[in-house]
Amino acid sequence: MIPLLLLALFMAGCDKLGSVFVEEDLLQRPPAKRCSDCHTQIYREWKESRHFHAWISKEFRLESENHTKTKCLSCHAPHQVDPGKKPVLRAEFREDGVSCVACHFKEESRTMHGPLRVWSPPHPSRQDLSYTKSKFCAGCHQETFREWKLAKVDRSCQSCHMPSLGKRRLIQKFPFYFFHRPKPRNSHRFPSLRAMQEDIKVELKGNKLMITNVGVPHNLPTADQGDPRLYLIAKVSYRDGRKRTVRKLLSAQSKTSLRYNVPYELRLPAGEIRSVDLTVLRKLSWKKGKETLLKLTLRTPSP
Ligand code: HEC
Ligand code: HEC
Ligand code: HEC
Ligand code: HEC
Ligand code: HEC
Repeated sequence: MIPLLLLALFMAGCDKLGSVFVEEDLLQRPPAKRCSDCHTQIYREWKESRHFHAWISKEFRLESENHTKTKCLSCHAPHQVDPGKKPVLRAEFREDGVSCVACHFKEESRTMHGPLRVWSPPHPSRQDLSYTKSKFCAGCHQETFREWKLAKVDRSCQSCHMPSLGKRRLIQKFPFYFFHRPKPRNSHRFPSLRAMQEDIKVELKGNKLMITNVGVPHNLPTADQGDPRLYLIAKVSYRDGRKRTVRKLLSAQSKTSLRYNVPYELRLPAGEIRSVDLTVLRKLSWKKGKETLLKLTLRTPSP
């Protein structure tokens, strides 16, 4: 019965219906939990993302001295995200971290901005294509954005870190989802991703290993404030039977990350090299363990 009634109202005219169904509190900066009443799936994804953890994570609590270092707070609990601008600190619900409202609600239009054209009776919406551009992320990921610009590639941050989920419904609330067709959806898990073997080119030239990031269009690893690391472990075998192990730690904080398309030189101890077993491990700044990115053996051709 209810769906039919709504359908009749829909036929009668969307404009009027719009104002009848507005849920005023959605324009009063509610907590993210409120958005999950309708956007249940997007909310679930976001809860698993680092953006949700940005304020409450143990690492951030420690390093911001229990949220007292004021210069640290605004990107971790932003009021409003505007492309390329460092945000200001939010007053309410800081435990929501980088939240739905911060990224989508605009104070000046009192409207939800997003990438699509939608009819959204509970709250006004406006299509805003800045959501599909890397600059949207740049006010907070300042350093990474700078690196990405130097790489001069077409792919946006979103195309990799908000991968397409195909067409799905934006809302799950019964019975309203019947009125909305599936639309392009992008993952709100904001995955950290992982470089693949083909993203890292390795060559053995005499006593040097040349390691190049050819696949990730920003430094590897990249960071603004976090401390992600790469560990290079080269086990070298010489023709005279000697073995040596060379270890090197690369990090954003020590400015030794692999830059896009710029070879990194790892010098190996002198001698006639037979082969090198290279292992590359990574550690994300918020994760305890290390993961293997690459494992390969390089041989010098027999003389
Ligand atoms: C308001 C500031 C802000 C904006 C805007 C923002 N981020 Fe973030 N992002 C953060 C913070 C803070 C963290 C770290 C949270 C943590 O780990 O505690 C983060 C973490 C991430 C991570 C996880 C990194 C890791 O170490 O695993 C990815 C991926 C990411 N953001 C991608 C994006 C993309 C893509 C956009 C643009 C669509 C974006 N972010 C916009 C603040 C922001
Ligand atoms: C300009 C925005 C901005 C400011 C200001 C900022 N951060 Fe962050 N922070 C980020 C972003 C973006 C990330 C995501 C990972 C990365 O790129 O380092 C992050 C990640 C982190 C992480 C790693 C996340 C984790 O869970 O391990 C820590 C810790 C952190 N910030 C602490 C701080 C501290 C301490 C300050 C103040 C000195 C600060 N941040 C100020 C944007 C910011
Ligand atoms: C009572 C239900 C309801 C609630 C609660 C709700 N929304 Fe929506 N929202 C909708 C509907 C309906 C649409 C349009 C769906 C469609 O067209 O498929 C929509 C669409 C959107 C869009 C897409 C806009 C665009 O142009 O791309 C965004 C962004 C959005 N909502 C954000 C939010 C945020 C943030 C919250 C929490 C403050 C929220 N919504 C709470 C019903 C709701
Ligand atoms: C870091 C900022 C950020 C946060 C936090 C965030 N979004 Fe988004 N959202 C985006 C961006 C950017 C897009 C556009 C992605 C694209 O089209 O490439 C988007 C797209 C959307 C869309 C359109 C459909 C889609 O999947 O592309 C809806 C609806 C939406 N968001 C709702 C929400 C809700 C609800 C929350 C909280 C549970 C939320 N967003 C949290 C940045 C954010
Ligand atoms: C072509 C895909 C691609 C694009 C475009 C891209 N990234 Fe990444 N990004 C990756 C991959 C792959 C990783 C994982 C690297 C690794 O193995 O640690 C990553 C890692 C990250 C990390 C986690 C720290 C790290 O180095 O592990 C952050 C933060 C991040 N990217 C932010 C961004 C932002 C912001 C943009 C846009 C300015 C962007 N990325 C553009 C593929 C991409």
